[in-house]
Amino acid sequence: MAAIQNIVILTGAGISAESGIDTFRGAGGLWENHRVEDVATPEAFARDPDLVLRFYDMRRAAIQTREPNAAHAALARLDREWRGNLLIVTQNVDDLHERGGARRVLHMHGEHLNAWCTACDARSRWTGPLIDRPPCPVCGTPALRPDIVWFGEMPYRMEEIYDALRAADLFVSIGTSGAVYPAAGFVRNARDLGAATLELNLERSQGSGWFDESRLGPATELVPAWVGELLG
Ligand code: OAD
Repeated sequence: MAAIQNIVILTGAGISAESGIDTFRGAGGLWENHRVEDVATPEAFARDPDLVLRFYDMRRAAIQTREPNAAHAALARLDREWRGNLLIVTQNVDDLHERGGARRVLHMHGEHLNAWCTACDARSRWTGPLIDRPPCPVCGTPALRPDIVWFGEMPYRMEEIYDALRAADLFVSIGTSGAVYPAAGFVRNARDLGAATLELNLERSQGSGWFDESRLGPATELVPAWVGELLG
């Protein structure tokens, strides 16, 4: 394989699992207590805003008590030391990549620690609850919602992501089940254009067959080992 210059990394809930944040589809996962359609759709928010706001208030509070793990730290090391292009595209809405020290991070499904004003469209950093309908810090309207991409909504910054995939020599998927599109399709976009593809996951994902190589195990072991190899 030619020398690697451009790397795209896709991360999912599995990278934060060992920090104590539930995955979506695993045993004990989030959706066991709340059905997806009860909390993660625009229709749910229209029907029962209190339920949805309470649910996300709880998640927003919980992630602030969690700490980045060795996998986040390893990607932050890669970000610091890699001289070529690197983009960490995360489906996660926690801030553990950033708190772990990574900078080149793109949140395609939004962020718990942002609130989005449906009146003026501003995004504001938000660490507290939304249930009491606080005013938007920018326009003053009590119209804030979680800045989370719900089912049926368009993920963020897709053009940037596809540009990075087109240029990638290496695509690495970490801790994601490959169940949710468009992210689940990135491996095919990258490999169709010639990138090498690697999966690091606890178990085979739904798209496992698309990867040149799958390494199975916990992210806190696999990711530091892979980063060590890559940086030599
Ligand atoms: P999932 O819960 O679907 O998948 C998590 C994956 O991580 C599974 O394949 C697990 O085997 C793996 N895993 C669990 N623990 C791990 C560990 N310690 N080390 C490595 N891998 C581990 O989560 P996602 O694929 O991220 O969307 O889910 C994708 C999207 O579905 C989420 O972003 C969310 C959800 O609907 C939105 O909120 C819009």
